[in-house]
Amino acid sequence: MKKISVIGVGYVGLVTAACFSDLGNHVTALDVNEERVAGLKRGEMPIYEPGLEELVNRNVQAGRLHFTTSYPEALKESEFIFICVGTPSGGDGEADLKYVESAARSIAEHMQAPAVVVNKSTVPVGTGDFVADIIRKAQPKPVDFWVVSCPEFLREGAAITDFMNPHRTVLGSLHREAADKVAQLHLPLRAPIVITDLRTAEMIKYASNAFLATKISFINEIADVCESLGADVKEVAAGMGFDTRIGKQFLEAGLGYGGSCFPKDVKALAYMAEEMGHEPRILNSVMEVNGRRRELAVRRLEQALGGLQGRRIGLLGLAFKANTDDMREAPSIDIAEALLAAGAQVRAFDPVAMPAAAELLPKVEMAQDAYDLAEGCDAILVVTEWNEFKNLDMGRVRESMKTPVIVDGRNLYQPQVMRNMGFDYYGIGRGYNENGIIETEIEVRPHAA
Ligand code: NAD
Ligand code: UGA
Repeated sequence: MKKISVIGVGYVGLVTAACFSDLGNHVTALDVNEERVAGLKRGEMPIYEPGLEELVNRNVQAGRLHFTTSYPEALKESEFIFICVGTPSGGDGEADLKYVESAARSIAEHMQAPAVVVNKSTVPVGTGDFVADIIRKAQPKPVDFWVVSCPEFLREGAAITDFMNPHRTVLGSLHREAADKVAQLHLPLRAPIVITDLRTAEMIKYASNAFLATKISFINEIADVCESLGADVKEVAAGMGFDTRIGKQFLEAGLGYGGSCFPKDVKALAYMAEEMGHEPRILNSVMEVNGRRRELAVRRLEQALGGLQGRRIGLLGLAFKANTDDMREAPSIDIAEALLAAGAQVRAFDPVAMPAAAELLPKVEMAQDAYDLAEGCDAILVVTEWNEFKNLDMGRVRESMKTPVIVDGRNLYQPQVMRNMGFDYYGIGRGYNENGIIETEIEVRPHAA
């Protein structure tokens, strides 16, 4: 049992606190947002994340997990202090470190006993040194501390599973003993542990996110070519993925990557490269290709309807991906704004993101469910790949619509099945030409025994 403080109870901090307490540690989680902390004390989650509420409340009841807004209370006797605050994009694409800086200052002011300060936020290379410097200078009296970088690789919507089953744990420090202590804490996760220096660990995080974003922009570019040449990108991706050097994951073509991480992290890495005098050609292309995906969806609706003025468009899904309520950099925002600017009337339905979306998109009317959304629509655009959209009664959807146009931004449906049902259906990269979508079922034959 170790004593741990977690600074910041957002997606990463709350999951980190809940999971470490579930592993038998004593965790105090702190946030400067009083409303968040008060809610957590009442057992209310500030974010939607599958399995989180049960995990948090069980560990609170077991006395292993506490929430506070008080730094002195949080840091009392802590052996490990995890920084999990946000690092949003600044004006030029750089990571804004104001929250990290203020957390480091508060840690310096209130730490009483020697501790390892573990940074889990995604931070520019060199931030570990910056944090160490702030703490050293801001301490009222010297207390020993060591900074370790431990970037987080969890995905929203699968955060608990990802935290508990990481592909690897990366630890960076100039102090091997401190890194070893953090390694011990992660041993129950039974994942390979990569121990390196601070700067390398910080770069591993950016390079990993940028590589995954590159895969997405790559397959989106291939999707466009597939479409023109009459090939099906879903099957191209499946056929590529059997090669383990390529892998099956992150080859879903669609509306491009969104969320609180890839957009800001690719930008921040490009900024770092430029600062060092390197032209980030690949990263710039990744961002450019990604930006065009949202325009493509709007253009496709416009073409299918012969104009958007006065048309009623239904957005099926709003969150940047399924299983989250996170609307940060969600493609739905740009798409809804472009549709409204073109004179369309926009309605939307999302199983969990509507409260967050309503604040950002006040002119979008929220529907009760997918069927209510379809009522009187000229077209539906599938924005988020929620499971509950996969098996809708499409006959009922079609009957409710004014004109049965579906632009499937997530390739959720089978083009031919949809066409046979009477929909005017457009997927992404699904090889349609003047003869209609060419569809072949992928066939994998097991080799003879
Ligand atoms: P978030 O915005 O959900 O949460 C950040 C929390 O920190 C907020 O509750 C905020 O009130 C709090 N905070 C800000 N300043 C504070 C301070 N000085 N003291 C205490 N609390 C403070 O952010 P997030 O999505 O959890 O991301 C946190 C970091 O982790 C970012 O660097 C992000 O890039 C990285 N990351 C995020 C994910 C993800 O899936 N969201 C995954 C891996 C890494
Ligand atoms: C991503 C990474 O996957 C995590 O490893 C990382 O820890 C996190 O960023 C972070 O640093 O914060 P997340 O943003 O939660 O996690 O979600 P992803 O599942 O990676 O999806 C990101 C975006 O890419 C979504 O908009 C998703 O729809 C899109 N995507 C993903 C595709 O368009 N195609 C794909 O094949 C995969």
